[in-house]
Amino acid sequence: MLTAIIMAGGSGERFWPLSTPEKPKQLLNIFSDKTMIRETVDRILPIISKENIFIATNELQADLIKKELKDIPKENIIIEPAFKDTAAAIGYSTLIIQNRFKDILKEKEKIKVVVLASDHLIKKEKEFRDIIKLAAEEASKNGVIVTLGVKSNKPETGYGYIEVKTDEKIKLNEIYKVKRFREKPNLETAENYIASGKYLWNSGIFIFTTETIFKNFDVLMEEHTEVFNDIKGKLLQNKTGLELTNLVRNDFEKFEKISIDFGVMEYSKNIRVIPVDIEWNDIGSFSSLEEVFDKNEAGNIVRYCDVKELDSSDNIVIGEDIIVSLLGVKNLVVVKNGNNILIANKSRVQDIKKITKNY
Ligand code: GDD
Ligand code: MG
Repeated sequence: MLTAIIMAGGSGERFWPLSTPEKPKQLLNIFSDKTMIRETVDRILPIISKENIFIATNELQADLIKKELKDIPKENIIIEPAFKDTAAAIGYSTLIIQNRFKDILKEKEKIKVVVLASDHLIKKEKEFRDIIKLAAEEASKNGVIVTLGVKSNKPETGYGYIEVKTDEKIKLNEIYKVKRFREKPNLETAENYIASGKYLWNSGIFIFTTETIFKNFDVLMEEHTEVFNDIKGKLLQNKTGLELTNLVRNDFEKFEKISIDFGVMEYSKNIRVIPVDIEWNDIGSFSSLEEVFDKNEAGNIVRYCDVKELDSSDNIVIGEDIIVSLLGVKNLVVVKNGNNILIANKSRVQDIKKITKNY
């Protein structure tokens, strides 16, 4: 049986003022007429039924997500009581899935889980679904964690890097063993990885069986495992929604805040990677919009508004119901939402969280 966890607990800092903690990137529709989380669900629905799709989120976003995803059963919206990063979030959601479908486990069928981020763009949707099916088969046959690897072309320090175990040319859509997984290296290391041509980016999409992921947690994350065991007993009460959130609030406090990449992927001996070409993009910041949208004739990216331009290029302008006049400016990011306006140098967009921190 195939299930999905859609991770939607991100804090939405890097797209301020479009995004806020209550309405982060996955709830925006800047990339198409649908929100990113709606796109994520629709992309996987042809191969996973809605009863088997789970959304992992927090108390700030849960109501908006329920409204946005009315077709997903309410009891599948998992509300974490604290932000403890992806190791805790993935383990907790997988426990809930295991408990929900325990009758299936009794029949010795394996439960396969696809972990997806809620804020990625994937243009080749059919290819994506075909790869997920292949990955799920491998995950259940060989008891491994499968990740999708994306061709890397710049020394991005916000990604995980995967070295494929092969001496031959890497082929797309094949299953490879992983020589090493390195989460978010520094710039110098990332540059070396890119120069070597041997590394793929980790797409952040993982596929495993419930049995495999807990075997990995048992060995690699003992403290998380202790908390998972306590939570497991409580899940037998079959509570859902905020009642369940309150039931595990104290347990969540005990989780160390750490991602699945640092906690499991860097150390596990049982990782496989499938190199893919699915036109994947993790829109990490305003500047990465340049990879997705075409510039207008003057050389600016403009969304939703009108612009008047004189001697101005390489700017990004976003906002509804405004006319923005650009005069002799380059490399600016101008974004309006409600009463908030951001005017930033494009090279500084990674620092947006420094100015939003106190809001
Ligand atoms: N429910 C929940 N709870 N979701 C969370 C939490 C949490 O505590 N923390 C993060 N998420 C969600 C985010 O909303 C996002 O959808 C996904 O989990 C990944 O978290 P990010 O914080 O965006 O991770 P990242 O982008 O820095 O790094 C990961 O993704 C990269 C590719 O986009 C890693 O897996 C990298 O190795 C990878 O290259
Ligand atoms: Mg991300």
